[in-house]
Amino acid sequence: MSIYNYPKYYDIAFGYRDLDLECDFIEKQIAVHSRSDNFSLLDIACGTGSHLIEMGKRGFDVSGFDISPKMIEYAKSKAEINNIHANLWVDNMVSFKTEKLFGCAINLLTGFNYLLRNEDVEEHLKRVALSLNQGGLYIIEMNHPREFITNEPSTTNSWIETDGDIEVEVDWDNERSAVDLLTHIVTTKPLIKIRDKGNEFDIKMEEKFRIYLYREILHYIDCSEHFKLVNSFGSFRFDKPLDNTKDSWRMILILRKE
Ligand SMILES: C[S@@+](CC[C@H](N)C(=O)[O-])C[C@H]1O[C@@H](n2cnc3c(N)ncnc32)[C@H](O)[C@@H]1O
Repeated sequence: MSIYNYPKYYDIAFGYRDLDLECDFIEKQIAVHSRSDNFSLLDIACGTGSHLIEMGKRGFDVSGFDISPKMIEYAKSKAEINNIHANLWVDNMVSFKTEKLFGCAINLLTGFNYLLRNEDVEEHLKRVALSLNQGGLYIIEMNHPREFITNEPSTTNSWIETDGDIEVEVDWDNERSAVDLLTHIVTTKPLIKIRDKGNEFDIKMEEKFRIYLYREILHYIDCSEHFKLVNSFGSFRFDKPLDNTKDSWRMILILRKE
C-alpha cells in the first residue's frame, strides 16, 4: 500500500507546500544560472504534476514522468482540467530516455532520495544529462544531511491537512529506523489515516530512502563529468543558503550541464 496509489490524498497531504514560491524559485534559478534558451521543462518523479502544471501556466513547455501509473493518470487529468498541454508518461528515473532535449529538469520533494544504490545515482545523472541542452539546469530538492548525522528530521513529520470534508493525517516517520551507517538507507512505515466523508481507512506504507551527505553528492556530480554545482539552498526562499541553521531544512542543489 502506498500514498502514491492515492494521488487525490497525496495532493491533500502535501498541500502545505507553497507552489507559487517553489515555481518562482525555479524561474529565478533558470533566469540566473541557465545558459540555454530552451524553455521546456522536464519534471522527474513528477508525482501528481502540480509543479509542471504551474510552470505550464507560466509559459513553459512541460513534460514529466513518474514510476507510479496512478500518479501519472491523475497528473494527466489535472493538466487537462487546467488546459495545460503536458507530455506525461510512466517511467523509471534510473532507465528513462527522452525523445527531445529540455532546458531544465526538476526533481522535487524527495524523489532523488529513492535512488538507493551508487550505480543508480550514476546512471540517473547520466540520463538527466542526456535529456538536457548544454547549459541547462537540473534542480534537485532532497532531505537535509542533518537527517543523516543526527537522524532527527528538520521538522515534524506528522501532520494533518484538510480539504473540505476530507482529512488526511500523516505520520511519515512511523517506525523510522536509524540510518544504516553502511548504506545510508532509512526505512519507515508511514501511516496515513484517511477520513473522507464517513469513509475511513489507513494507508500503511513501507519506505526505503537514502540520505545524501553534501560532499558525497558533490563527488557524484564531479564523477558524472556532465554537471557543475552552481548554487545550493536550504529552502525555497532565495535568501536561505544551504547551511547548518534550523531553517535550512532541505538540500536544494542547482546543477548546470557543462
Ligand atoms: C515524494 S514524491 C514527490 C513527487 C513530486 N516530485 C512532488 O514534488 O510532489 C516522490 C515520487 O517519486 C516517485 N518515484 C519513486 N521512485 C521512482 C523512480 N525510480 N522513478 C520515477 N519515479 C519514482 C514516486 O512514485 C513519487 O511520485
